[in-house]
Amino acid sequence: MEYLRIAGGRPLEGRAALPGAKNSLLPILAASVLCDGPVTLDNVPDLADLHASLEILRRIGWEAEYLDGRVDLCPARQVRSRIPSRAAGAMRSSVFYLAPLLHRTGRVELPTPGGCRLGERPIDIHLEGLVKMGAAASVENNRLVLQAPNGLQGTCFELRYPSVGATESLLMAAVLARGATCLTGVAREPEIQDLARFLNRCGARITGAGGSTIHVVGVRRLHGTRHTIIPDRIVAATLLAAVTGAEGDIVMEGVQPSHLAGVLDIYRRMGLRTSQPAPGQLRAVMDRRPSALGKAATGPYPAFCTDAAPLAAAALLRAEGESVIEDRVFENRFDCAAGFARLGARACRQGRSVHIWGVEQYRGGEAEGGDLRGGAALVCAAVAAQGESRIGGLEHIRRGYQDLAGLLGGLGADIRLCRD
Ligand code: EPZ
Repeated sequence: MEYLRIAGGRPLEGRAALPGAKNSLLPILAASVLCDGPVTLDNVPDLADLHASLEILRRIGWEAEYLDGRVDLCPARQVRSRIPSRAAGAMRSSVFYLAPLLHRTGRVELPTPGGCRLGERPIDIHLEGLVKMGAAASVENNRLVLQAPNGLQGTCFELRYPSVGATESLLMAAVLARGATCLTGVAREPEIQDLARFLNRCGARITGAGGSTIHVVGVRRLHGTRHTIIPDRIVAATLLAAVTGAEGDIVMEGVQPSHLAGVLDIYRRMGLRTSQPAPGQLRAVMDRRPSALGKAATGPYPAFCTDAAPLAAAALLRAEGESVIEDRVFENRFDCAAGFARLGARACRQGRSVHIWGVEQYRGGEAEGGDLRGGAALVCAAVAAQGESRIGGLEHIRRGYQDLAGLLGGLGADIRLCRD
């Protein structure tokens, strides 16, 4: 079994280049199915979720290649509308293919996307919007079937919750729908804006992405393009957690600080000092024990984002005082709290919240991540521990980090991949 062996207690120093954003890449890969021409994507990180997406694209007929940070996609001559269970089951983001395949073939079949460790993960908002645009939804043999033999019709639709995935799904549905679409109550994440930029470069007519209302005028077809994926703000939040907990002085490159709005406030409240030495760079300095947060809660962007919550919790394990972080987005965001305790810190999960009683030092130990960001949080906690730790569950971490050990090792952490 593979695990990371981490000898904690060393401050972090040096520079790290941010990879492209997983949560921008996945919807854009699906959106490529809408394009009649070839698509090339740059700044693409080598992730397990990337390869699961490329497998889906190949299974529906696309030519899909990845080499050295670049993806090349060529449209299928014959599109298959059935997403195989194995490929879809590997990640929830297979739901992004509903709208593109509806446009391509008038029908799409998908294993009913399951929940995950974070919680139920329903897709009712996606389906409500697609049905309002003319799709017919049914479940046959435990597979979701959507049909729109006459294509989709533009509409006005208000999302009951600013769901990131539903916003992206309905954006992809609207760009080739007949007529105009107005989406209100949408998610405002930078990844939504990156998807809109990609689609507009393919000939779509989208305005308002990044705000609460998006307008789309449907077009008849989309051509291909070449597009560079934006930097991964959650990887940035991960490195900020590590340096806040372990202390040190790091510079991240390829950062868009505006994408870190709600997150930087949280780390600054802990005592992290940040500056921008040059465009696209963010320097983060921590030279003392963190301050506790008291109470904090996550929310839709631009608030403190749910993905950063377990990472910020890891930074608080050494804080002076108590902190409670409530995740108002997912029910089970803090399964990692038990792992923090196994490393000798004082933390426990209380429903949707994590309660942390900061200690000046904790020894480290053995723990296993159960989800992507929880696993990354355990690694950050181990880097800030005094002694040696062994962190398992790397298959979860690899879904969203190309090489977390290499990133932290490059900043001076004593971290290496081991096998039993
Ligand atoms: C995206 O997931 C991200 N994934 C998640 O990142 C991120 O945590 C999440 O947005 C919130 O920011 C990708 O972009 C690939 P949501 P998504 O739809 O789209 C409820 C990571 O670690 N909801 O905004 O699935 C849902 O249950 C991953 O990189 C409905 O009720 O998130 C949840 O409580 C984890 N009905 C809330 O909305 C729906 O139809 C937010 O979900 C859709 C969502």
